[in-house]
Amino acid sequence: MTARFMKIAVVYLFIGVCMGLYMGISQQFTFTTVHAHLHLLGWVSMALFGVIYYIYPTASRTRLATIHFWLHNIGVPLMQGTLFIMLWSESYALVSFTITGSVLIVLGALLFMINVFRHANRERSAAS
Ligand code: HEM
Ligand code: HEM
Repeated sequence: MTARFMKIAVVYLFIGVCMGLYMGISQQFTFTTVHAHLHLLGWVSMALFGVIYYIYPTASRTRLATIHFWLHNIGVPLMQGTLFIMLWSESYALVSFTITGSVLIVLGALLFMINVFRHANRERSAAS
């Protein structure tokens, strides 16, 4: 699970910095929130998930971790992709998809929380 999250995180980092560079040069800030969340949900959160699953390998091998992976990785592109289109087209037509993506991310966070609570004390982590 660590390698999967890490590889996707660095892709979001690359997309995010390209977007930031474009925003800075063009002084075009319409998509600032998409840039911020691609970094914070795509790069930072996924890199942290990867590190935490590395520290707690038994948490990483659970079905909860697999479902968390898919909820987050369907949720982020759905939420940010539809938000990007709405900001670009100045329309709210896709808002239900943005909300759906956000809810998937929240459900993923819930499963992640349960998984960490279940496994953080049970094993000798890689860090201890
Ligand atoms: C080459 C790298 C980057 C460039 C050129 C860049 C550029 C920008 C620009 C131009 C803005 C809009 C500022 C404004 O609205 O006044 C912005 C906002 C933001 N960026 Fe970046 N960024 C970069 C990397 C990052 C990274 C790595 C993160 C997080 C890990 C990040 C997080 C944010 C956040 C949270 C905001 C919103 C700040 C706010 O609402 O005040 N950026 N960035
Ligand atoms: C399902 C997950 C999330 C949802 C639905 C969400 C939603 C939002 C919304 C509605 C805003 C206000 C945007 C605006 O005023 O234009 C916002 C701003 C912000 N959020 Fe989130 N957020 C989520 C996750 C996160 C996470 C995980 C982080 C940090 C690790 C974060 C950091 C921020 C920051 C720094 C801002 C201010 C910059 C901006 O305007 O985009 N968010 N978020």
